[in-house]
Amino acid sequence: MKQGKRVGIVGAGNVGATVAYSLAMLGSCHEIILRDNKIDVARGKALDMSQAASAVRSHTVVRVAESMEDLVNCDVVVVTAGSPRLPGMSRDDLLMINANITKEVIQGIAKYSPDAIIIMVSNPLDAMTYVALKESGFDRSRVIGMAGILDSSRMAAFIQEKLGYGGGQIRASVMGGHGDDMVPLPRYSTVAGVPLTDVLSDTEIAEIVTRTRHGGAEIVGYLKTGSAYYAPAKSTAIMVEAILKDTKQIHPCAVYLDGEYGYKDIVSGVPVMLGANGAEKIIEMTLNDSEKAMFKNSCASVQDLINTLKKNNFFEEK
Ligand code: 2OP
Repeated sequence: MKQGKRVGIVGAGNVGATVAYSLAMLGSCHEIILRDNKIDVARGKALDMSQAASAVRSHTVVRVAESMEDLVNCDVVVVTAGSPRLPGMSRDDLLMINANITKEVIQGIAKYSPDAIIIMVSNPLDAMTYVALKESGFDRSRVIGMAGILDSSRMAAFIQEKLGYGGGQIRASVMGGHGDDMVPLPRYSTVAGVPLTDVLSDTEIAEIVTRTRHGGAEIVGYLKTGSAYYAPAKSTAIMVEAILKDTKQIHPCAVYLDGEYGYKDIVSGVPVMLGANGAEKIIEMTLNDSEKAMFKNSCASVQDLINTLKKNNFFEEK
C-alpha cells in the first residue's frame, strides 16, 4: 500500500544517492525507492540512509527496487542513470550511450509510474530531457531537466569568491542548455538586490561567466574518476521539494519549448514555475540582443545533438 509521497530514483551512484540522502534528511517524502543495476550497492545505501533518517527523526524510508516493476506509483522519478562524464570526455560524447539507457528507463517509468513527474539529470542533459519527453509520451509539463539551478548556484559561488562577501545573498541567473555555451546572465544577477554590474568590473564578470560555463569540467578535472554530485544532487532535491510541496517557486529548468523565446521542438533552460503539476508555467524574460544571440547559440548546440539522434533513427526504433 502506498502511504504519502513516493520518489523513485533511477541510478544509485553519487548523484542519485546524494539526492536520496538529501530528501531523506529533509523528510520531504514518505518513501524513496532506489533503482540500480548494482542491486547490492543500492541495498546497502538504502539501509544506510534509512538508518540516517532514523537518526534525525525523519519519517522517510529508503528502499530498493529489485526491478523497474517495483518503481510503481511514484509521484516523482529522478533519472540519474547513465555513463558518467570522465576526464577529457565532453557531455556530448555521452550522447548515444546515455540516450539508449534513458530510452529503456523511461519506458519502464511510463509503464509503472504513468502519473509521475520525471526529473532528468543524465547528460547531455537537454538532449536526454528531449529523449525522455518523446519516449514517455508525457505532457511537457511532466518532463523537466535539472541544470539551471546547478549552473546558477555555481555562478553564485564564483561571484561570492570574487567579491569576498555576500554569501547567501547572491541571486545568479543562468539560462540555456547545460553545455559549454550555457547563458550566464550577469544583467539579471544581484547581490542583495544590488546589480552585479555595480560591484564587479567587466573583466571580473567575464571571468565568472567563463568559469561558470566550465564549472562541471573544473570539478571533473579534480575528481578524475567522476563528476560533481553534491551541487547537482542538491539542485535536484530542490526541484523535487518544489513539486511535492507545490511551492510554485520559479527555478531555471530544462523544458520543452513550444514557441517560448521563439523556439519550438527543442529543450533548453528557462525560468519555470514548479508545482504539483510539474513545470506549470514557463516565464519569458526580456533578453537583449547579445543575450538572445547567446541563447540562440546554446539552442543550436542542443539541436545538433537532437539531429544526431534523429540521423541515427533513434526515435524510430520502437
Ligand atoms: C556537471 O555539470 C557533469 O553536468 C555535470 O557537473
